Amino acid sequence: MITRVFSGIQPTGTLHIGNYFGAVRNWAAMQDDIESIICIVDYHAITIDVDPTTLRQATLSMATDLIACGIDPEKTVLFVQSDVPEHTELGWILGCVTSIGDLSRMTQFKDKSSKQSFISSGLFTYPVLQAADILLYKADGVPVGEDQIQHLELSRRIARRFNSRFGEFFPEPQQVVGEKGARIMSLSDPTAKMSKSAGETHYVGVMEPETSIRKKVRSAVTDMGLESGDAMSPGVANLFEILELSTESTGQTDILENLRANFAVGSLMYSTLKDAVFEQLMEILRPIQEKRAKLESSGDVIDMLRSGAKRARIMAKETIAQVRPLVGLGTDNP
Ligand code: TRP
Repeated sequence: MITRVFSGIQPTGTLHIGNYFGAVRNWAAMQDDIESIICIVDYHAITIDVDPTTLRQATLSMATDLIACGIDPEKTVLFVQSDVPEHTELGWILGCVTSIGDLSRMTQFKDKSSKQSFISSGLFTYPVLQAADILLYKADGVPVGEDQIQHLELSRRIARRFNSRFGEFFPEPQQVVGEKGARIMSLSDPTAKMSKSAGETHYVGVMEPETSIRKKVRSAVTDMGLESGDAMSPGVANLFEILELSTESTGQTDILENLRANFAVGSLMYSTLKDAVFEQLMEILRPIQEKRAKLESSGDVIDMLRSGAKRARIMAKETIAQVRPLVGLGTDNP
């Protein structure tokens, strides 16, 4: 049984519907039933070159987005990673029980470093800090997507190595899969996962203006000129996926059923599908966008993050206070 979940999200500035359906929506659903900790990982963000002003704004913006999407800072402990510096202390200690060989096998490092002219050692040890994030709270569940499975596996190896050297202490964190492990693909390259870094046409931002969302959905790739026979092309399948996720929340599943039936008999017009995707999506996004506008003008988000950090820090300090004597660190524990 999972008792406490932890997840981290990079302050990329804006959430897209892939983040929303794939992760944030599940986090919001979980917070009623299980102790939840969500962290905006700004220490991780500086592993690649980022402007300080941009980073600060992106961090606050991500927090605002998350709360607007339903993360309730009263229920979930929501905070900014660097407000709890114990993450880096545990990161250092865990780095000393992590092998270079294991870190060298991380595919995300290989990917990211191939795009960087300056490769920081922080980018290399990124997964150690991630393990520290999770283990600092002794979280046993981590709701993340497939792309983080390798990092999570390493977190377990790190926990095991720590435990075998210093005595049983950390639980081995498990992946938690949401009710519906949604994987939304890029609109302009439906064979790749939706991401912001691929470019403007690839994603739909949760907070994007309606006109821009309409335009992006209308220009989504449908058939890519593949010899597909009767099979659904990846682009069309992706639109149906978005429609399914949206109508699940709006309750208008008959729209989905009709369009599916049309597709089955070969009478579906993609423009009709796209209009439906746009309409249903906006029904979900509109209230989120309104909530965001209110939050932003209230100026309360900083305070929410600070009180989140206070709660997180109490737990973090407790873990560190136990870890230090186990390892033999410092003078305060003779
Ligand atoms: N590496 C994760 C990502 O890119 C973000 C992250 C940092 C994280 N620390 C974490 C996720 C701890 C889960 C748990 O998505």
